[in-house]
Parts: sequence; structure tokens; C-alpha cells
Amino acid sequence: MKKGLFITFEGADGSGKTTQLNNIKSFLEQKGFDVVVTREPGSLELGKKIREILLHYDGVVADRCEIFLFLADRAQHVETFIKPAIEEGKIVLCDRHTDSTIAYQGYGRGQDVQLLKELNKIAVNGIYPDLTLLFDVSTEVAQERVGSEKDRMESIGIEFHKKVRNGYLELKNEYSDRIKLVNANNSIEEVFEETKNIITNLIQQKQGV
Ligand code: TYD
Repeated sequence: MKKGLFITFEGADGSGKTTQLNNIKSFLEQKGFDVVVTREPGSLELGKKIREILLHYDGVVADRCEIFLFLADRAQHVETFIKPAIEEGKIVLCDRHTDSTIAYQGYGRGQDVQLLKELNKIAVNGIYPDLTLLFDVSTEVAQERVGSEKDRMESIGIEFHKKVRNGYLELKNEYSDRIKLVNANNSIEEVFEETKNIITNLIQQKQGV
């Protein structure tokens, strides 16, 4: 049996990545691939409880507490869901993963990026994405798309979100083999075309189909 693929979708809140992820799921399923969709934080039972705190707790959440909550969710998610799915030959499409921690907690919150990379390494325990799509959009457009109903992370403010975007772009330069940039300022159809092409190339490369 073919080994599966692990593809992560990253970008700002309001970048449109979730819409693209769902469109890609349908596209790949029509081609006959076995696809699973998941997300961080909070795709599993335990993770949903962590997600509730991360996005809706209205008291103070210390920066280090926030980091460990995201990482706890990730460790559980990789071990009990992502790793088995890849081993079963599935294509795993994951909405946010390790790069979110570097972009949001590292570049956004100003926590030590090097340390976060080490912590991510512990959380994922050897499982790394084959491909990461970075949906890059100007912070102004992203904020407009998010609208006025904001969760705890979305409410932080525009300067924070600009730092997050820059962080993602730094990561893209650093890991240019793995991270591919998609211009998410474009229309949904154009972004889908670009996304589809990148993923089709990856599948051809890795699975020869
Ligand atoms: P979510 O509603 O899933 O946002 P989106 O649909 O934009 O992905 O909320 C997840 C929020 O958590 C989002 O603001 C990004 C943030 N986040 C981090 O700060 N660090 C992380 O490691 C992860 C996975 C997410």
C-alpha cells in the first residue's frame, strides 16, 4: 500500500484557507484518493476542550500557557489521528499545524522562535508535512474577511496580525522546499487553481500518479 501524504494549510485568520481545504478535499476524492480533513486546535474530543479554552476563555491566558495548550493539542492529534491516517495510506489535509505556533506565538506574541521549534519537534515526534500551503493575504483584506465576530486570537489587533504574516513569510523563505506560497488576495477560483496545481505536482512526485 502507498504511504499517505500529509499536507498542512497555513495562513492568517481570514486567508480563505479553510474554503480551499474543503474544495481540495472534494477534488481529490473525485480523483479516487482517500482523504481526511482535520484541524488544529481541537479536532478530537480532548482537543475540543483545549480549543474551547484557547479561543473562548475570557480570563487571562499567560503566553507560556497558550503555547503549551496548542502543543498539547498537537501531540495528541499527531499521535492518535495524523500518524495512523498517514500509515493507512490516506491523504491528510490539516488546517493549521506547527507553522501556526511559530507565526502566532513566535513572531506574533514575541516568544522565542528557536525554543518553539524545539517544542514543536517534541510534539510531532517525527511526523512532518510533505507540503505546506501558505495562503498569503494582506492583513487589511484578512481582517475585513474575518468581520466583527472575533474569537480570542482574532481580537488581538492589527499589529499582531501583521507580525504573524511576516512570520509566515520568514518561514516560507527558510523552508522553501516544503512551504509553497499561494496568493490568497485573488478570487476563490484563482486560488483554487493555484492550490490544485501545487498539490497535483506533489502527488505526481511522491506517488507517481
Ligand atoms: P480557528 O477558528 O481554527 O481559525 P482559522 O479558521 O483561522 O484557522 O482558530 C485558530 C486560532 O488559533 C487562529 O487564530 C490561529 C491560532 N493558532 C495559534 O495561535 N497557534 C497555533 O499553534 C495554532 C494551531 C493556532
